[in-house]
Amino acid sequence: MSKKYKIAVVNGDGIGNEIVPAGISVLETVAKKYDFEIETQEFSWGAGYYLQHGEFMPENGLETLQSFDAIYFGAVGLPEVDDTLPAKDYTFKVRTEFQQYVNYRPVKLFSGIQSPLRDKTKKDIDFVIIRENNEGEFVQNGKIMHPDTPNGLAIDTSIVTRKGVERIAHFAFKLARKRDKKVTNVTKSNTLIYSLGFWDQVMGEVAAQYPDVEYNKMYVDNASASFVLKPEVFDVIVTTNMIGDILSDLGGAIMGSLGLGGSGNINPEKEFPSMFEPIHGSAPDIAGQNTANPIGQIWSAAIMLEHLGETKAAQNIVAGIEHTTAKGNLTKDLRGTATTKDVATSVISFIESEG
Ligand code: NAI
Ligand code: MG
Repeated sequence: MSKKYKIAVVNGDGIGNEIVPAGISVLETVAKKYDFEIETQEFSWGAGYYLQHGEFMPENGLETLQSFDAIYFGAVGLPEVDDTLPAKDYTFKVRTEFQQYVNYRPVKLFSGIQSPLRDKTKKDIDFVIIRENNEGEFVQNGKIMHPDTPNGLAIDTSIVTRKGVERIAHFAFKLARKRDKKVTNVTKSNTLIYSLGFWDQVMGEVAAQYPDVEYNKMYVDNASASFVLKPEVFDVIVTTNMIGDILSDLGGAIMGSLGLGGSGNINPEKEFPSMFEPIHGSAPDIAGQNTANPIGQIWSAAIMLEHLGETKAAQNIVAGIEHTTAKGNLTKDLRGTATTKDVATSVISFIESEG
């Protein structure tokens, strides 16, 4: 009997409703080809759901998700909804409660796409950002006091734990062993001397356990410049929650568009389902036009299949993306005229016809 994976599907808002179905159609195609089953169940959660029900997902939402093998997610957020809610009430909630402490964000230049870095080629832009996904600057541990008075003040406190740094570090070094054996720890420990000083200390201790992997430290200001001037120096980047958030949008930009970036929020121990989503948001400015680039969403499906152990199917999807971009089937963000559906159809016909 063929293997069956239960996938919870959360389109979310905006372009999520266009790119997630595109991704599902690709998933169904590879499943047929590689002889496994994808059983999907859709949940219409997000900011649109909030407008109707006063919450981003039902109270037992996490409990419901728990019985799935993975979550395939678009993005949440709408202009008419308070934008402090999407992360707090959906995205961070799932990432934290399900201990998805690895945010895996690959950056690579696909064939046929001109990077805005005019001299850089495919061999220069090919690395992975491993963003710590449960702690750091985004724990939302803080307070606002007397906001409407002259004495108004606000505090956010970052949290860095030994356990948190050790587990993300081990993930990064193990990944580097499967790639070019190089880890760059991106921090700002020269100024955030307590939290990131400790981060560096623990990272260094773990690095010592992987003598076969080259280990470097780089401050985020230098790293930002290096993304643009010499992206070829990177293989695996390991970094904090906020730095990783910002750098991965920059990673999307040097690939040619934010719409290209895929990602996984991963619980490596598989104690909880992991969640796979593009790096961008719900892009309400282009929603409903069938012009959104679905590649980040489709790539996230490949990352999901890799996590589930369907490596060949995952590689076939990535090959389908390469084929599509190489042929110039590009959406508007890449100065092309293809629709969201055209791009999905092109990936699907490659999968059906090749290998
Ligand atoms: P965004 O990533 O949605 O959009 C930024 C720009 O990139 C926009 O001009 C958009 O049109 C373009 N873009 C993004 N994805 C694209 C794609 N696939 N194809 C073509 N163009 C694309 O970020 P923004 O505008 O800051 O946020 C919009 C909403 O999304 C907000 O409510 C925000 O909170 C939410 N958001 C949700 C995330 C999540 O659910 N994980 C992550 C980031 C933002
Ligand atoms: Mg982001």
